[in-house]
Amino acid sequence: MAKSFTVKQIYEIFPTKLVGCCTFAEIFKLKFTIMSLQLGDAAPDFTAETTIGKINLYEFLGDSWGVLFSHPADFTPVCTTELGRTAQLQKEFEKRDVKVLAVSVDPLDKHHSWTKDINETQNCTVEFPLIADEDKTVANLYGMLHPNASATATVRSLFIIGPDKKIKLIILYPASTGRNFNEVLRVIDSLQLTANQGLTTPADWVLGDDLIVSPSISTEDAIKKFPKGVKVVKPYLRYTPQP
Ligand code: BEZ
Repeated sequence: MAKSFTVKQIYEIFPTKLVGCCTFAEIFKLKFTIMSLQLGDAAPDFTAETTIGKINLYEFLGDSWGVLFSHPADFTPVCTTELGRTAQLQKEFEKRDVKVLAVSVDPLDKHHSWTKDINETQNCTVEFPLIADEDKTVANLYGMLHPNASATATVRSLFIIGPDKKIKLIILYPASTGRNFNEVLRVIDSLQLTANQGLTTPADWVLGDDLIVSPSISTEDAIKKFPKGVKVVKPYLRYTPQP
């Protein structure tokens, strides 16, 4: 979706690029629009300071899946539970070959001292990197700043990135609502079943439930491919047990 930006916001996003190529008046006249990231887009690459050192996103991910999620601010209650929950689920992310990165616009020293609180209060060990996005590079690349929700803080955005570096899922939550990280894992399971086996997942699906054969697979091929059987309810609605 095209998003309009005020001149002030444009200057914050592209301070050097724009000053060199447009006058202030031209920017006013142009009514600059920037496309928000959409599913299937390439995940913007970046290099950033994090709690585990400088990271380049693409190098960090390698051939793995990725979850990049923003939180509004360090030392806040809902964020504390979210990062704690993510740390508790670290093994589940690893099982699925998913690398996790958190981001906010707070500085590195704050991230480090807050991590101690998270570990203490949430009974976990945060091992994934927290990006210190003080200059808002990552927040701007991923559209994590929503000025009408907060003038300064990132909202709760979450992106699942595939091994092809394409964006597979975007969710956006308000600051007051902690996300459901079991749902994030559920979507990852669904995405991986689609990528690896040509299967899709029905409404409210959970691991172990029957799956739906992707419309791109003929019933004849599905019967060969899924030895546990294919139940044809309609030519376009075909179920198979979880392989
Ligand atoms: C929180 O994490 O609790 C929070 C952060 C920013 C605004 C509101 C709540």
